[in-house]
Amino acid sequence: MRTQVAIIGAGPSGLLLGQLLHKAGIDNVILERQTGDYVLGRIRAGILEQITVDLLHEAGVGAGVDAGGTVHHSIELVFAGTRHPIDVHGLTGGKVVTAYGQTELTRDLMQARAAAGLTTVYEAANVTPLDFDGHQPRVTYEKDGQTHTLDCDFIAGCDGYHGVSRASVKDSITEYERHYPFGWLGVLADVPPVSPHAIVYGNSERGFSLCSMRSLTRSRYYVQCPLDDKVEDWSDQRFWDELRRRLDPALAEAIVTGPTIEKSIAPLRSFVAEPMRFGRLFLAGDAAHIVPPTGAKGLNLASSDVKYLSSALIEYFRDKSPAAIDTYSERCLRRVWKAERFSWWLTSLLHRFPDTQGFGQKIQEAELDYLVSSVAASTTLAENYVGLPLELR
Ligand code: APR
Ligand code: PHB
Repeated sequence: MRTQVAIIGAGPSGLLLGQLLHKAGIDNVILERQTGDYVLGRIRAGILEQITVDLLHEAGVGAGVDAGGTVHHSIELVFAGTRHPIDVHGLTGGKVVTAYGQTELTRDLMQARAAAGLTTVYEAANVTPLDFDGHQPRVTYEKDGQTHTLDCDFIAGCDGYHGVSRASVKDSITEYERHYPFGWLGVLADVPPVSPHAIVYGNSERGFSLCSMRSLTRSRYYVQCPLDDKVEDWSDQRFWDELRRRLDPALAEAIVTGPTIEKSIAPLRSFVAEPMRFGRLFLAGDAAHIVPPTGAKGLNLASSDVKYLSSALIEYFRDKSPAAIDTYSERCLRRVWKAERFSWWLTSLLHRFPDTQGFGQKIQEAELDYLVSSVAASTTLAENYVGLPLELR
């Protein structure tokens, strides 16, 4: 089999890239290790910057987010038992974020790909990118017991943090990493969100909490928990009680509880691999970088990588110019590092760190107070929250 761009991974990065390339007349094939249902079963964040929404429209898959997304003009910080709205829309000259689940977004992309008749090989085993530094780039894989070769011009490594693409260049990359001493316990429940107009971020002496949503009838909530906690330790009742204790009395009172339909614990990590291009192999999305979920930058960074990569490949095939390909890594990383900084900062500001008492705790309280009482400080938060510009040139 031959294609112009072999894409490894059918998560949001790979699917979005495939759709944008297809729109520009560039042929592509996706090789995915799992089944489609498995990919859809992973519950991840769901806050989209406008650049992500715009990109979905550019890819011809904006109808889902237009119909099912909820626009947020503000966020709320809760600390010391008091709520502090941050008017993100007002502070950024009219920018907003949109709540729309990664599962829904992935399903929209899968359906568009199927409708366009593009090839996705699910359950492809032993996917191996080869000769991306030479003249015959290709990807081999096994399917139904047979080995296949996909010849191509370029390989896009969109295969997430545990993928084969970054592993295949491990001797040529520098990795930067930070682990946090806690995790997030997240639940999904078919109950109306307590705050349908603003995402609520809470800092209390019991730890961080977050009230988010997937729709007007489906809520997503999180609480900070010790890394060694097990999901089985957390009954639904324990979760709801703990969430309430971390919010202000009015919000705690207003929360509608119900049986959870998903419950999981995720560690928090910051990670960046540099560079993001190796000859004809490119890394995009979680394959190259991870952010802690505070601030919801993961999916949005994947989108900006894909925007840079699709425009670079389109320019290459249209004009035979490698200029944008040559600057791909540098352009991505400038935006990646700013989002890494923001996610790290927001994580540090809102969580309780086991080894921080006294001075560190007082500094956190002072920074929170500064943030909600200074227009300059809340503007900084707001402009990062809605997403920094793409800087296409
Ligand atoms: N061969 C083929 N496919 C693979 C391989 C492999 N060796 N390894 C991983 N994959 C697939 C995974 O099964 C997954 O479907 O690559 C896909 C990667 O998808 P994601 O992990 O969702 O990564 P990405 O598409 O970059 O999406 C980034 O997802 O993790 C969140 O916060 C993150 O929202 C962000 C978004
Ligand atoms: C979510 O809805 O899952 C979510 C929202 C905001 C975040 C992280 C996750 O910062």
